[in-house]
Amino acid sequence: MSPQFTSKATGARDDVRIGIDFGGTGIKGAAVDLATGELAGPKRRLDTPRVSTPDAVLAVFREVLEFNPRVDGPVGITVPGIVADGVIGRAPNIHPDWVGLDAAAFLTEGLQREVSLINDADAAALAEHRYGAAAGRNGTVLVTTLGTGIGAGLLRDGVLVPNVEVGHIPMHGTEAEKWASTSARELVNLSWTQWAERLTEVYGLFERIFTPDLIVVGGGVSKAHEKFLPHVEVTTEIVPATLRNRAGIVGCALLTTF
Ligand code: BGC
Repeated sequence: MSPQFTSKATGARDDVRIGIDFGGTGIKGAAVDLATGELAGPKRRLDTPRVSTPDAVLAVFREVLEFNPRVDGPVGITVPGIVADGVIGRAPNIHPDWVGLDAAAFLTEGLQREVSLINDADAAALAEHRYGAAAGRNGTVLVTTLGTGIGAGLLRDGVLVPNVEVGHIPMHGTEAEKWASTSARELVNLSWTQWAERLTEVYGLFERIFTPDLIVVGGGVSKAHEKFLPHVEVTTEIVPATLRNRAGIVGCALLTTF
């Protein structure tokens, strides 16, 4: 069932929330219509500050909110790292000052709005399960994001198992995400089929660990899925994300209702 909320004070529809996807390279935010999972307004994308300290990133989040002045209420924000009770754990693609920070408290204070935080791939998993490629799917679903890193969101019968950090599985003397993320592909200029060979190994390993019923492949590159996904050879059903790179925004906006 789609969430529908009505503000008791004004009677106005309250099912539009802001989601901000904080990534290693970009920060994207938009208002999200939670009834449909569609964006309710234009998306604002800004570069992640090169030195991505909490204060520098907070300033970018403020800009994203200023771009959506008419949407108040709680804000959902994704983090490219472990999030447990609002505190950031290992997060290799952002400034180390985030690690150990009670970021939910820091951002709630800094933005003067209630902030809900979630790992970026976990947000994508919630969004794909509610509105996208995994809609209504029970069993074990693994939603992955290919970007600066490799994110993974695991669902069992629609319930999230948070902070599944399988992008860091050791592989070829490094780790899966350093070997096969989108950034890794760009770094060594792999062809689509060369990349698909690497992804076959990565997804083969994920398959052996989780025995999923469905694998969803997300991240911005999923819009080019025809170029690589048919060459990824696994036995599990594997499909492109349908929310593409807005899944993070949508998933964390949805989180504000939990
Ligand atoms: C982080 C994950 C994150 C992924 C995608 C990894 O480096 O450890 O938490 O989901 O990158 O951003």
